[in-house]
Amino acid sequence: MCHEMTAYSDYPFALSRRQFTATGVLGLFGLATHGIESGAMIPVGHENILQRKRGSMKKGWEYNHSGVFTKDFKGTIRYYKDLGIAAELPPTGTGLDPTDSAEIIEFDVVPVFNIPEGEPFLQLLYIGDFEMEVLHAETFIPRGEMLAYREGCNHICISVPDIDAETDKLVKKGMRIIQDFHLKGKRLEDYLDTREFGHILLSFRTPMTDEMKKRKVAAGIVPWKFIGHTAIVKDLDKTVRFYEHLEIADFLPEKQFDTGKMSNVQIYGKPPKAEVQARTRKCRVGDRLILEMVEPGKSDFIYRETLYRRGEGIMDVTFSVKDLKQETARLTNKGVSMIFCGQPRDSGSFAVFDTRAKGGDVLIKLVEE
Ligand SMILES: [Fe+2]
Repeated sequence: MCHEMTAYSDYPFALSRRQFTATGVLGLFGLATHGIESGAMIPVGHENILQRKRGSMKKGWEYNHSGVFTKDFKGTIRYYKDLGIAAELPPTGTGLDPTDSAEIIEFDVVPVFNIPEGEPFLQLLYIGDFEMEVLHAETFIPRGEMLAYREGCNHICISVPDIDAETDKLVKKGMRIIQDFHLKGKRLEDYLDTREFGHILLSFRTPMTDEMKKRKVAAGIVPWKFIGHTAIVKDLDKTVRFYEHLEIADFLPEKQFDTGKMSNVQIYGKPPKAEVQARTRKCRVGDRLILEMVEPGKSDFIYRETLYRRGEGIMDVTFSVKDLKQETARLTNKGVSMIFCGQPRDSGSFAVFDTRAKGGDVLIKLVEE
């Protein structure tokens, strides 16, 4: 049922400049648990972005989590758990004085939310070492300065050593803050509107404690290592220039994706009727998050159809696995369709699984190490 939120415990962002208790807001944000092990070398095919010249790499930027909006909040959480790939962590106390106050500043528009009574604002799931922040999707496609979203993965969150300085840098480059969360006058989290090209929001958080990182890295129940996301873009060159202008990512040179140059390609279980081609560039944001920007070329399958259907943005969560056959069986035995697979010449085999319908309109991609 849709209803306008009026209480902080339902949704802290619903009203501008409203005071909230620390316990309520921090509980909703899950700040006590957001964190992830960092510094791991992430192989991406035969390249290794971490070994490349550091360029504009941001010192101390640590990947925190990605946010997935879903129409069926409880259903999506249950779905990933029933697949046997996701775990939850019990909430931890904040250790803060409950009389502390937090302030959320956002939006010119007060959106209508469809968070049923008694459901939390968000839920964290752990898939391997990936933290998925599950959020309630709008009942309509939001416009303007709104964090809320249609279904799908809409933001990446990076913990940074100096959140004010990093935010100011992007504000000076013309990015607007669309959500700004303060506690006792200190900024703890914000969201910058970096959607112009690629339609991905960048969220900053303050640094994670070692305890938070340890807790999160131990939470996963499948041996999957999070690599990053594939993002569909309309114009690869403009998107790359935009990210370079923002100085938030280091790019590898362009690569052509072409199923014609791969072996064992299957689309919906059959050899492709037309080769799938696309322009791609991988970039690293912070210590470990890899975004693979893809501009669809020939064939509508998967890339262009995603662009047609839902526009630019993140389309999958990509993991590396040791044994792709075994991990494929893990998912297909639970009824998940593998819609795309192949073996590129210069990197490990990949398989893409259709978890969109119940999983918040996001695919899972596994790549063999
Ligand atoms: Fe988030």
